[in-house]
Amino acid sequence: MKYPIRSLEFKNNKLYLIDQRALPQQYKKFICENYRDVEFAIAEMVVRGAPAIGVTAAYGVVLAAFEFNELPIKQFLDQMHEACDIINSSRPTAVNLMWAIKRMRFFLIDNETPKNVLHKLKAEANQIADEDIRTNKKMGQFGNSLIPHKATILTHCNTGALATVEYGTALGVIRAAFEDGKEIFVYADETRPRLQGARLTAWELVQEGIPATLIADSVAATLIRDGKIDLILVGADRIAINGDCANKIGTFMLSVIAKVYDVPFYIVAPTTTIDFEIETGEEIEIEERSKEEVTHINGVQIAPENIDVYNPAFDVTPNENITAVITEKGIINKPFKENILKLK
Ligand code: MRU
Repeated sequence: MKYPIRSLEFKNNKLYLIDQRALPQQYKKFICENYRDVEFAIAEMVVRGAPAIGVTAAYGVVLAAFEFNELPIKQFLDQMHEACDIINSSRPTAVNLMWAIKRMRFFLIDNETPKNVLHKLKAEANQIADEDIRTNKKMGQFGNSLIPHKATILTHCNTGALATVEYGTALGVIRAAFEDGKEIFVYADETRPRLQGARLTAWELVQEGIPATLIADSVAATLIRDGKIDLILVGADRIAINGDCANKIGTFMLSVIAKVYDVPFYIVAPTTTIDFEIETGEEIEIEERSKEEVTHINGVQIAPENIDVYNPAFDVTPNENITAVITEKGIINKPFKENILKLK
């Protein structure tokens, strides 16, 4: 059975998220009735992927406005800013979250009634969601121009419809090439420890009928060395002005191998993933997640109880390992700093 892949939907004043923790065994919705549910959904990865987190956060602000709009304007604004702060700190690395909250805070002004503010916030969140879909389609078009017919593509983590509102970033480029009739083949890294590749990317690829094979992360080096990969497409969670990109843990390692064997390594990300306030990737906060993500699989313990665990969720790929960054505004080539600053 083919399921609709729209990661989130706002209806009847509630936010419906595809519960990404349950896929692929179960397709079910997680309903956010207030902004605390949104904070939980982002922190616990009910919803994940930089663009999807940003849009979810925007709707979290709308839910807070529904909760507080009967208050006098001053108290309303105090409560709204507190809600924004709480949502803003639900995960640290994907800058789309902070970007969306900043965009929503713009409407928190005191010469309006709370009801008017609520109305404007809802319209803005809908706009952010619509823009995300348009942006992904644009990146798909630009990225498709780089994909040769019969290309074999390696990807990491999940950058598909689930990681955005619809369509996807790196997986969106793969979708665009497939829709264009190119006979592409995809290798999807399983992406330990959360297995976004095995659980989510593989599910999207199977649903779309895109020819693909799932691999353990450690297989990628052999495929690259053996000349089996024509190009690598991955997403990003935050891009510094110099082109350094934070993405799912394991991306940096792939980029090093790609460089050694001269395989093109592309980042696909909307311009909302660029953090114009940081010069280099060294300034990006890397989230560390729980020990249990590594010591347990599906709730079953696989490592001894007393072992220490280091579990960073992201790493930074240095700009010199990146061939180009595909955005909705075009393909950004080197020199990255100069070309990224033109997008501001
Ligand atoms: O921890 P996650 O699953 O939120 O990490 C997701 C990624 O690293 C993606 O590659 C990135 O957000 C780009 S998604 C379009």
